[in-house]
Amino acid sequence: MEYITIDGGKRLEGQVNINGAKNAAVAIIPAAIASTGICTIDNLPAIKDVQVLVGAMRKLGIGCEFTDEHTLKIDSRAINGHSIAYDQVKDMRASYYLLGALLGRFKHAEVPLPGGCNFGLRPIDLHMKGFEALGAKINIEHGMVTASAERLTGASIYLDISSVGATINIMIAAVYAEGVTQIENAAKEPHVVDTANFLNKMGAKIKGAGTDVIRITGVEGLSGGEYSVIPDQIEAGTYMIASAVTGGDVSVQNIIPKHMDSLSAKLTEMGCQVLENDAHDGLRVIGPEVLKSCTVKTMFYPGFPTDLHPQMSALLSRANGTSVLTETVFEHRFQYVKELLRLGANIQVEGRAVIIEGGSLTGAQVMATDLRAGAALIIAALSAEGRTTIGNVKYLDRGYEKFESKLSALGANISRISVEE
Ligand code: EPZ
Repeated sequence: MEYITIDGGKRLEGQVNINGAKNAAVAIIPAAIASTGICTIDNLPAIKDVQVLVGAMRKLGIGCEFTDEHTLKIDSRAINGHSIAYDQVKDMRASYYLLGALLGRFKHAEVPLPGGCNFGLRPIDLHMKGFEALGAKINIEHGMVTASAERLTGASIYLDISSVGATINIMIAAVYAEGVTQIENAAKEPHVVDTANFLNKMGAKIKGAGTDVIRITGVEGLSGGEYSVIPDQIEAGTYMIASAVTGGDVSVQNIIPKHMDSLSAKLTEMGCQVLENDAHDGLRVIGPEVLKSCTVKTMFYPGFPTDLHPQMSALLSRANGTSVLTETVFEHRFQYVKELLRLGANIQVEGRAVIIEGGSLTGAQVMATDLRAGAALIIAALSAEGRTTIGNVKYLDRGYEKFESKLSALGANISRISVEE
């Protein structure tokens, strides 16, 4: 079993380089199945979710070769199957994009119901609604989703919820659908736009990504090509919060500052200085002596991202006064609360909100319950008095490349230890 230990109280200083976006990478890699050429994708994060996805694609006979740690060459011309086994993808959620990719190109897909972070039900009914609107027959049994179609025809699809996954999955499936597909109430997250940009670079005809209405005009075929994944908004936000919680002075580099606007506004409200660099690809976050409390409400992009909710709660636990954070995207994303309580946080769940009385934290033994809950524990541990030991490091490895060496380079007293089971 691996653990992370952190001796809190060190002020973070220096520069951290942000990797490519996990939630763009796990969409673009399967989307490359739509191409009949060779796709070279760079700025991929070296994280577990990418490795799992690549492993599943290799099992389908798709050529996946890393030319360096962050660059992947994908060749799906020799693909020999359309069915993914559960044990190949059970630890991640984004395997559902293989459904849209295989259905779109081959009109047949068999993919397990998704795994991944266990906060709430996280259904995929909207994905299925979109595929059926395009003409697919869906069958779900024994934990497997089978989608098949004689042909796919463009349709107008209204999403009851602006689901990121459903928006991207339908977009990928519709690339070859005859005629025009319109996705209304579409998600606008940066990774939705990035996936559309990738597909368009390969010859797709997608308009409106980043707005409420995305139109996909079916094409005959997609070429290969090269593409670079956008920086990770959530990794960047996690390090910005880490600087704030330690009263630090950290420059977060290789990012798109616009993607961070909602967090930058909140950190400024809490007394931080958030300064954009001249090259417009970095933000310097200087934390104050005393953090001010504030209210936060998670929303779909460009609102405050739900994936920074746990990390923000950890920060608010150190602010002066009472803060309220309301979670509007997932019905239950509060598993991290019981772990923060172990660190001495004064936090309680009220319906879909947490009420937080800021104060001091003391180190303890805690367990990550999901990816961003693990990040929240790192944030809290950095400013807790004494040593914190965090278990279930596997969650953090799903989404944060080399986080302990990045934090150590910023001055954190952090290490990873392995203990025999
Ligand atoms: C994506 O998950 C991200 N994962 C999540 O990031 C992120 O929290 C989420 O979007 C919201 O931004 C990936 O991109 C791989 P949704 P996704 O569909 O697509 C409901 C991380 O830490 N819903 O936008 O699964 C759903 O229950 C992860 O990087 C339906 O009801 O999220 C939720 O309440 C965690 N039916 C809401 O919509 C559906 O068919 C938003 O979910 C689909 C979703």
